[in-house]
Amino acid sequence: MAVRLGDIAPDFTADTTQGPIHFHEWKGNGWAILFSHPKDFTPVCTTELGAAAALKGEFDKRNCKMIGLSVDPVESHVRWEGDIKDVTGHAVNFPMIGDPDRTVATLYDMIHPNASDTLTVRSVFVIGPDNKVKLTLTYPASTGRNFLELLRVLDSLQLSAGYPVSTPADWKPGDDVIIAPALSDAEATAKFPKGFDKKKPYLRMTPQPDR
Ligand code: BEZ
Repeated sequence: MAVRLGDIAPDFTADTTQGPIHFHEWKGNGWAILFSHPKDFTPVCTTELGAAAALKGEFDKRNCKMIGLSVDPVESHVRWEGDIKDVTGHAVNFPMIGDPDRTVATLYDMIHPNASDTLTVRSVFVIGPDNKVKLTLTYPASTGRNFLELLRVLDSLQLSAGYPVSTPADWKPGDDVIIAPALSDAEATAKFPKGFDKKKPYLRMTPQPDR
């Protein structure tokens, strides 16, 4: 069954390039991003893993652990990681799940049979400290993901988790944010001392509150 926003991210045990894990235990009380790759030794995936590894420090700063998955075994991932370092200059610095029997891929509905019976699509799950799914994305095998965009999304999710705000189209950290419509103007004034610009009764912009 599909894993949807607000669901508890399914727990599992799996072998990874950094040893066996129990997912919830490994994740702990922080954030996590779980992303699937259709297959080892494939071109787009190779570039994606280098890009992800390059940004691990940024995910760390946000208390977000990274974990990848492909339906090949761990020994294959380990061999592939040499190529990834060669090509991208970045060593894969987070665990990669080996999922040859597709247990985790099935649990997270990462195999879309009308795309491929055997390979996963490019799924992304961002999971919050409460183990609930905060974001899902699905890309086809032919399109590499933008890991800077995933960081941007994480910034938005973390901001909304801490304040009654949402972020507008194309928002970047530091841009103004939207006050939750559930707040009255009086509540908004109290909560957001920098003030707000009431563009419409339902659209009130305020400077990013944690800056
Ligand atoms: C790729 O990463 O380039 C890829 C993955 C699966 C099938 C085809 C290509």
